Amino acid sequence: MLKIKSSAPGKLMLFGEHVVVYGYPCIVTSVDSRIYVEVEKEKKFKIDAPQVKDLRFVEETVKQFCKKYKVSSKILLKTYSDFSSKFGLGSSSAVTVATIKALCKFYKIEISKKEIFDLGYKVVLSIQKVGSGFDVASAVFGGTIYFVTGGKIIESLSVKNLSLVIGYSGVKADTTSIVNKIGSKIKDQRSKTLNIFENMKHIVEEAKVSLVNSDWEKTGELMNQNHKLLQELGVSTEKLDVMCQVAISAGAYGAKLSGAGGGDCMISIVPENKTKSVKSAIINAGGEILNVKINI
Ligand code: PMV
Repeated sequence: MLKIKSSAPGKLMLFGEHVVVYGYPCIVTSVDSRIYVEVEKEKKFKIDAPQVKDLRFVEETVKQFCKKYKVSSKILLKTYSDFSSKFGLGSSSAVTVATIKALCKFYKIEISKKEIFDLGYKVVLSIQKVGSGFDVASAVFGGTIYFVTGGKIIESLSVKNLSLVIGYSGVKADTTSIVNKIGSKIKDQRSKTLNIFENMKHIVEEAKVSLVNSDWEKTGELMNQNHKLLQELGVSTEKLDVMCQVAISAGAYGAKLSGAGGGDCMISIVPENKTKSVKSAIINAGGEILNVKINI
């Protein structure tokens, strides 16, 4: 029987989290850990997804895809994952995109990457209600991309040999509630928050140049500045702050939290010869090292 397989990568936010929800740019990179989806014909719609905690993304994707392209949902859909959803590597958007790609192959429907993004973003928004779509774009396009809210700009950046050490803080972040918290902050402390957003925008623009020029020292400095602004926004945690500090003390060019904050991961940009000491420092601070390759 015809069985179709597809996959999509997880992601890490490099620069510009939160501001990207409000029409500003961010920079995101994909990782080599992927989510896989298999589709075959069945008598009725069935899902076999032992590692997926929230099945709504798969269910909603199949529903919207079958409606849009007028195809049957009588399929068995299986998913596998290289990574746990607890790390905040974007498992929901990756499974959404992998499902769209698998359904396109199964039904021999050719659509562009932008169309995959548009449908994936619609699915994710219908469930999460908030979000810029950066994670969906990363799952569709891979590599490192400069992204503006809702996919207004999706630009692939040529970034070579970016060496990151990634530490998981041990706490699962609740992205939606933190995004909503920033929404309230815009109302309560408008000028202060918008000022932070403007500063963040400049950091993202500078990082776009420093990443492409392989200027890691500058990129590290910009990470530190980005982290400081996230602290000012009130989304960092003591654990993330400590993990960033120890990484810098152990020789990283710079470090920041990655994503919504409140938990999940921090990233640090590190000279090759300091990788070991930065990893040990993060572990000693209570973090867990994620051994993922980036920009894939
Ligand atoms: O928590 P994560 O890794 O899903 O990142 C959220 C990034 C935000 O900018 C806060 C939200 C978004 O959708 O862009």
